[in-house]
Amino acid sequence: MIAKNTRVVVLTGAGISAESGIRTFRASDGLWEEHRIEDVATPQGWRDNPQLVWSFYQQRRRQLLEVEPNPGHIALAELERYLDDFLLVTQNVDDLHERAGSNNLIHMHGELEKLRCEDCGHIEAMMDEEHLTDVFVACTNCGSRLRPHIVWFGEIPLQTHEIENALSQCDVFIAIGTSGHVYPASNYLHKASMHGARTICINLDPPENIEFFNDFFQGKSGELLPELVEQWIKDSTVE
Ligand code: APR
Repeated sequence: MIAKNTRVVVLTGAGISAESGIRTFRASDGLWEEHRIEDVATPQGWRDNPQLVWSFYQQRRRQLLEVEPNPGHIALAELERYLDDFLLVTQNVDDLHERAGSNNLIHMHGELEKLRCEDCGHIEAMMDEEHLTDVFVACTNCGSRLRPHIVWFGEIPLQTHEIENALSQCDVFIAIGTSGHVYPASNYLHKASMHGARTICINLDPPENIEFFNDFFQGKSGELLPELVEQWIKDSTVE
């Protein structure tokens, strides 16, 4: 199914970080339970109550210091090292893929580690203790108040041109830990398959777009991915 020269694009969602202790968005115990999405993950929410939004994201940024990559993140980094042509697109804003060793990585919904200035556009990773309190942080470039470098609902995902270019050329597309609920990521499956790519889904539950996948491996990515990656590499080296 996957040889060393197979061009692979992987899309991950909150499910791949679930076994690291980061809650997903749409499970019953989902992160949004305590907050309405429109209050904490929209530009309007930020305008209406910046302190609520800032404190919500500071809580999630502080959590990064307490969690570790799980075997699913680690298996993807191993697959990248083996393949000649690999791109990892993640909807997640945690840094667990980087910490597991992934390099060719696009965070299409932004990154918790980084803060962004709405006045001068400066973006900077700021994770020191003084950057993680409920007090706003000032831009090191112009002094204005910084916002989370997160793509909120109604905002444009990042690097979509690069992503769609890779989807149009890949041989295999693998979606892992995503419910297929949020556009444009939920449409990446179709962009890959319309160019003839084989499409694989690894998920705890069947996602909304399950009927369009060629293969579906149901279960926890932290358990399935190490086995699948080991099998793909073994089968490929046998060929
Ligand atoms: N292994 C594999 N899949 C899992 C696991 C696991 N251990 N745990 C949960 N899942 C699956 C769930 O079955 C679900 O289909 O992960 C998926 C998580 O779906 P969502 O919570 O909707 O997260 P995601 O698809 O990443 O959401 C996309 O929506 O809220 C916005 O910007 C936010 O990036 C997020 C986007």
